[in-house]
Amino acid sequence: MPPRRYPGNLSIYIIQEAALFLRRPFGIVAAKNGHITIIYRIVGKGTEEMSRLTVGDVLSIEGPLGEGVFTVSDMPTLLAGGGVGLAPLIFLAAQSPEPIVLIAGKTAVETKCWVPFFAPYAKKIYMTTDDGSAGIKGMATAALDEIFSHHLLQRIAVCGPTPMMKSVAQAAAVKKISCEVSLEKRMACGIGVCLGCTGEYKNRDGRYKVCADGPVFAAEEVFA
Ligand SMILES: Cc1cc2nc3c(=O)[nH]c(=O)nc-3n(C[C@H](O)[C@H](O)[C@H](O)COP(=O)(O)OP(=O)(O)OC[C@H]3O[C@@H](n4cnc5c(N)ncnc54)[C@H](O)[C@@H]3O)c2cc1C
Ligand code: FES
Repeated sequence: MPPRRYPGNLSIYIIQEAALFLRRPFGIVAAKNGHITIIYRIVGKGTEEMSRLTVGDVLSIEGPLGEGVFTVSDMPTLLAGGGVGLAPLIFLAAQSPEPIVLIAGKTAVETKCWVPFFAPYAKKIYMTTDDGSAGIKGMATAALDEIFSHHLLQRIAVCGPTPMMKSVAQAAAVKKISCEVSLEKRMACGIGVCLGCTGEYKNRDGRYKVCADGPVFAAEEVFA
């Protein structure tokens, strides 16, 4: 079956209209029966406001936005996520036949909480922690040798901190495995107008906008 595209990883922008001037981007974890699910980390004013929402509060949501989305295919796929970057990979896991999943985090607490979300879909889940309290000790790449030796992968989808995505993409390139990454940049307009989220294409001339052209790109488009 040819690879197909799906809208699940497009960002939504969600905000309580009166509270903040700019919208905040979030990936979609699930969309079912008229409901969408997001998972977010409280890092600042907007997410702090969101954490105080209660049932019945009304939100202004715009989206899904963007063009770049992860490719879904029947080929053996690794989903590699770090921290809250794992959230949109849950949607992808639900669309992928028995993906291999790599959960990378700082500690066991931060890492193990993601397992129940992936367990219904994953063929096998690997974990890495910075402090060695769960799974393999080290960064996400510490697990790659073992994963590559046990699974003949054709695709890798990565979402997490930029250094993590870069190092996974480099390892994928060495193995000649197709790799897609979901970029995270601070965003203002979300619709390609303010130019606040641009970067330089690495494999051709021109600049991309993460909000409008992404957030998902082929790794070779955005990483040298
Ligand atoms: C495409 C996309 C998808 C995302 N999906 C999710 C998700 O599913 N779950 C989730 O928890 N977060 C996600 N984020 C990050 C989320 O948008 C930010 O954490 C949020 O906007 C912070 O808002 P705030 O008002 O709480 O923080 P602010 O008060 O605006 O900032 C607090 C701190 O967070 C940093 N920060 C804010 N936004 C970003 C950003 N985009 N990238 C890097 N640092 C940032 C600031 O520099 C500052 O240090 C996503 C970002 C993008 C671009
Ligand atoms: S956020 Fe304005 S162009 Fe991307």
